[in-house]
Amino acid sequence: MTGRTAGAVSALALLGLASWDAPAGSRGPAEVDAARLTAADREPGQWMSYGRTYSEQRYSPLTQVNAGNASKLGLAWSFELATNRGVEVTPVVVDGVMYVTSSWSLVYALDARTGKRLWTYDPEVPRETGFYACCDVVNRGVAVWQGKVYVATLDGRLVALDARTGKPVWTVRTTPEKSPYTITMAPRIVRGKVMIGNSGSEYGVRGYVSAYDAQTGKLAWRFYTVPGDPSKGFENKAMEMAAKTWKGEWWKAGGGGSPWDAMSYDPETNLLYFGTGNGAPWNEKVRSAGEGDNLFLSSIVAVNADTGEYAWHYQTTPGDSWDFDSTQSLVLADLPIGGRPRKVLMQAAKNGFFYVLDRTNGQLISAEPFVKVTWAKGVDKATGRPIEIGDPRYKTGPAIVEPSSFGGHNWHPMSFSPKTGLAYVPAQEVPGVYGTDDRYAYDPSQWNTGTDTKLNALPSDPKQRAAMRNAFRGYLEAIDPLTGKIAWKVEHKGPWNGGTLATAGDLVFQGTADGRFNAYEAKTGKLVWSTPTYAATLAGPMTYSLDGEQYVAVGAGFGSVYFLVAGFALDKPGNADNGKILVYKLGGRQVLPKPQLVKAEFPKPPPVHASAATIAAGQASYQKYCLVCHGYGAISGGVLPDLRKSPVVAQADAFKDVVIGGVRKEAGMVSFASVLKPADADAVRAYLLTEAQAGWKAEHAKTSPAARKGPKPG
Ligand code: HEC
Repeated sequence: MTGRTAGAVSALALLGLASWDAPAGSRGPAEVDAARLTAADREPGQWMSYGRTYSEQRYSPLTQVNAGNASKLGLAWSFELATNRGVEVTPVVVDGVMYVTSSWSLVYALDARTGKRLWTYDPEVPRETGFYACCDVVNRGVAVWQGKVYVATLDGRLVALDARTGKPVWTVRTTPEKSPYTITMAPRIVRGKVMIGNSGSEYGVRGYVSAYDAQTGKLAWRFYTVPGDPSKGFENKAMEMAAKTWKGEWWKAGGGGSPWDAMSYDPETNLLYFGTGNGAPWNEKVRSAGEGDNLFLSSIVAVNADTGEYAWHYQTTPGDSWDFDSTQSLVLADLPIGGRPRKVLMQAAKNGFFYVLDRTNGQLISAEPFVKVTWAKGVDKATGRPIEIGDPRYKTGPAIVEPSSFGGHNWHPMSFSPKTGLAYVPAQEVPGVYGTDDRYAYDPSQWNTGTDTKLNALPSDPKQRAAMRNAFRGYLEAIDPLTGKIAWKVEHKGPWNGGTLATAGDLVFQGTADGRFNAYEAKTGKLVWSTPTYAATLAGPMTYSLDGEQYVAVGAGFGSVYFLVAGFALDKPGNADNGKILVYKLGGRQVLPKPQLVKAEFPKPPPVHASAATIAAGQASYQKYCLVCHGYGAISGGVLPDLRKSPVVAQADAFKDVVIGGVRKEAGMVSFASVLKPADADAVRAYLLTEAQAGWKAEHAKTSPAARKGPKPG
């Protein structure tokens, strides 16, 4: 079934709960515990947690599929998820059952041999929650532990499901009800505690990590990542220390720092590592009077896994002003550095540097740029601080900065192969323009960046548009952590490509935004296999084996923030088909049907009756309130309706019913009445109609008889 609307859930997929039938004498489903997880390498056929092991290396010891035979990979089975929108899940496979999630936090248990559905759990996330999800309504996966499956829902619940039936055993709210917090990350389980962070720093929240008892759901500890109002006292010494690095009344906008994705764990030191997000708002000038490091924003933090007690932190971007979350994969390994073995933690951070830290104490070992970096010329080895160059904090005026909020690397998981000694990073180069919004005031109901969002408007001149598009680049990079050098690199058609999987079969797997799933030789980057997936393939791939056969699985589906905002940069827009899980094996013979793409009609838009000033004001509101979902220049990435082609935009009243009246809020399109008056909505509409006119003319020119004859010579 293909769902056109944001909330589409296929009725078929939810019908009838089949349940798990354990073969006699075997253990029950999802019977994972500390012993099994810590010794995960003894069971290479399983993939028992998000990053396979506590080190989150995403390296599989399986070798049946290898560089010599990968060309024989074929589809073993595929499973259609019940929702459309982005697919960012890494499947977990334990004892023959695969557990996956889809957008809107649905969970599915599948027979890992055949893809047959065993059960589905739909937490029925209210679709209005989508408004608070900065980067699509995605979910990255589950954790499993002692017969239960754990999922965190977009609206902030942590749910433990019975692995046999998919029925909830307990549910806790891990964020305040009706608050702008969201959750998209996969929980991790350490020594019987479920670890979960949260997202929402764009809306003004105070980030934290919570640990819950896996059996009962009782809160064991909570670690805030930024200090609260000092007059109310501090939760711990770490917060007291952190508060000294802030100025003004930062707590009123929450401070931010949401730990929204990466975690890893070292059983030897019993330290839990997590990365923290950007500040609320992004711009330090308006967040903290332009002063201080603002701990623990954009940092890697280590806490005691039993108590949540602070151990150490390393801040990748002090006083962040660019949305440089430090939430990217935190990969642990033991590496020979300077001739002696060191216990390290690696991160290819959003800010463009590849960090190697001593994970016992947070000391910097090395930090080298892995993409174009314009805001800092390097990282000072002695102090661990970036050496900023020019005016990257846009104090004297707007600045073009690279990387930008998309990051040199984002949530797409990286992998590390102990065999090649290389880290495999889905890297990208996307510049951004930053400037201060002088009229900024905190508004809990909206995005809060404190930056002038008009500066990132898509230029109307086609040549400038093409130049902007050309500056958006994406790569697969193999980075040597001992030197920080790039061993090899493959360029993709654009940014926002898939997470990676490394295997002992000398392979690296990665999907691409333009709908392929590829395997490369791990040492050289030579492409050895490539197959079409017909959907953006962004998630982290994984591999498992059953009955002597190795399988490689990956999620695919249009959505994720790039397909909401960057339609203009795509060769081909995506579509609103449901997501899917694709599973390959040697000699697999299933055929993935190629979707029938119906080209959306571009009806002639009505004329615009508005002054240039009104259109400019409308564009400014669009940039501020609408761009995050409807895209640069109102050009859809194919998942949400293209507002240039919309019958709703064509009619002034219908438009206001949606934008101010909120008549589509159940589909994720909320009312903007709190920030837009009817006249403001008219101005947004006038701007949209100018984009529609321009788009229609360009499309018409392409298909007119004159255009078909080609450009005139000379
Ligand atoms: C958080 C994401 C989000 C934001 C921000 C957002 N929208 Fe939407 N919008 C949606 C979704 C989802 C839909 C599709 C709803 C549906 O399926 O009916 C939609 C649909 C619409 C539609 C109906 C289009 C059609 O043809 O059906 C209009 C008009 C619209 N949005 C205008 C706006 C305007 C104007 C703004 C800014 C003031 C805005 N939206 C901001 C998510 C968003």
